[in-house]
Amino acid sequence: MVTRALDVVLLGPPGAGKGTQAKRLAAAYELLHLSTGDLLREEVVRGSELGREAEGYMKRGELVPDALVGKMLLARLHSQQAAAGCAFDGYPRNLEQAGLLDGLLAELNRRVDIALYLNVPDEALLERLTGRRSCPSCGAVYHVVTHPPHVEGVCDTCGGALVQRADDREEVIRERLRVYHQQTAPLLEHYQARGALREVVGTGTQDEVFERLREAMRSTKR
Ligand code: AP5
Ligand code: MG
Repeated sequence: MVTRALDVVLLGPPGAGKGTQAKRLAAAYELLHLSTGDLLREEVVRGSELGREAEGYMKRGELVPDALVGKMLLARLHSQQAAAGCAFDGYPRNLEQAGLLDGLLAELNRRVDIALYLNVPDEALLERLTGRRSCPSCGAVYHVVTHPPHVEGVCDTCGGALVQRADDREEVIRERLRVYHQQTAPLLEHYQARGALREVVGTGTQDEVFERLREAMRSTKR
C-alpha cells in the first residue's frame, strides 16, 4: 500500500522545544527532521558562502533573508529522505516563507497536514535557552538542569564536547523573542484559518509534551 507523505510544521518561540520534539516525532512517524537552524549552523561551521552570509543575522538574533533559507530548503525537500514527509522545525518563520512552503509542497502534490504549536510562556524560555548545551558532532541537545548529560560537558551519545550556542546570550535571546512575536506568531492565524493548527501545552517534562503531540497527531492520517 502506498501511504501519502505526511508534512508537519512545528511552531513556537525560541526554546519552546521544537528541536527536541521534532527529533522524536521524526523517529516515531518516519519523517525527515528538517531544521533550518541546524542546517544554517552547519553552513556557518563549514564556512560556506551561505554560512558566511547567514552568520551575522544569526548572531544578532535576526531572521536570515528568505531567499537564502528557501534555496537551502528546496534541495532538502526534493531529496529521497524527504519523500515520506518532513517535520519542519524553524520553518516557516514568516508569512512569506509559509507561502513559499505551500507552493513547494503543492508542486509535490503535498501540503502542510498539521501545524503543531508548542505554547510555552516567555518567562520559561530564557531559563531553557541559557541552560541549553548542544553537541556539535551529533546534534544532541541537553539542559544543565532539566536534561543534563551523565558527565558534565560531555555528550552521552557520542562523547563530543558540549557547547553553548552563540545566540543563547540573554540580549540575543530577547531579540529572537521580539522577532518571533513580530514575524512568526502571525503564522498561528495562517494555519488556524485552514484548520491545520493544533495547540499543545509545551510545559511539563519532555515525555509529557511528546505524549500531547502524539495525541494531537491522531487527527492526521498516520
Ligand atoms: P533556530 O535554530 O530555529 O532557533 P529558535 O527558533 O530560536 O529555536 P531554538 O532552537 O532556540 O529552540 P527550540 O524550540 O528548538 O528548543 P529546544 O528543543 O532546543 O534558529 C536560529 C537562528 O537561525 C534564527 O534566529 C535565525 O537567525 C536563523 N534561522 C533559522 N531558521 C530560519 C528561517 N526559516 N528563516 C530565517 N532565519 C532562520 O529546547 C531548548 C532547551 O529547552 C534545551 O536545552 C532543551 O533540553 C530544553 N527543553 C526542551 N523541552 C523541555 C521541557 N519540556 N522542559 C524543560 N526544558 C525543555
Ligand atoms: Mg531548535
